[in-house]
Amino acid sequence: MTAPNAPALSPQEQEKAQAAAAAVGWVRDGMVLGLGTGTTSAHFITQLGERVRQGLKVQGLATSVASEALARQVGIPLLEPRRGLTFDLAVDGADELDPELRLIKGGGGALLREKVLETASRYLLVIADSSKLVPRLGRFPLPLEVVPFALPWVLDAVEKLGGAPALRMAKDDPSAPVYSDQKNLLVDCHFGQIADAERLAAQLKTIPGIVEHGLFLGLAQAAVIIQDGQAQVLRPGQSARPATEFAELP
Ligand code: A5P
Repeated sequence: MTAPNAPALSPQEQEKAQAAAAAVGWVRDGMVLGLGTGTTSAHFITQLGERVRQGLKVQGLATSVASEALARQVGIPLLEPRRGLTFDLAVDGADELDPELRLIKGGGGALLREKVLETASRYLLVIADSSKLVPRLGRFPLPLEVVPFALPWVLDAVEKLGGAPALRMAKDDPSAPVYSDQKNLLVDCHFGQIADAERLAAQLKTIPGIVEHGLFLGLAQAAVIIQDGQAQVLRPGQSARPATEFAELP
């Protein structure tokens, strides 16, 4: 329930909350969850907290310091990283997704922890508002997490690959670089439309100093995206189906 004096959500925030609600509906008792980062994931964590307060038994591990703080605030029991830990379900937003559920992530700077947890998850469910679905990735600049010492050479190498890299700076202080939770730098790279995401991902992996890139390929099993006000389920290469058709995870 919305608090009486809570400001009304913008249409985009309403879509994010609606996608999050569909995902919360598929969470079951006993699940170990990977908790994503960003504004859409924040809706999921907040709504999941309400279910936990109503008695749902889950545990989670967050992909960022910010999501961990929110999860703690809303009462979701939290785990620590440990060997052997896998996740039944990770739920996360995305900066872009294409119809094959290739993703660009990292707009919130959490791409490294997101990729770690989502690779250790049996199921990655993306939740997104209608603006995130694109026919081909590349409108959103691809985030990279970069070791500070390596920055100049990473910028040179990314330019040689055809990218236009820009060091991410704080919105409120354009002279201050943004650091990730791991104290690394973030570089946003415009490549234009990415014709071959798998090839670009492989090339970026060979550049020393890039800790991780924001291409998430072959990781997402499904996405909930809002289209014409309805929550729709997308699966790689399949046509959209209403989320209401699925009693369990799609
Ligand atoms: C965090 O680093 C990102 O990968 C987010 O998941 C992504 O930026 C989506 O964020 P929003 O839900 O805020 O759009």
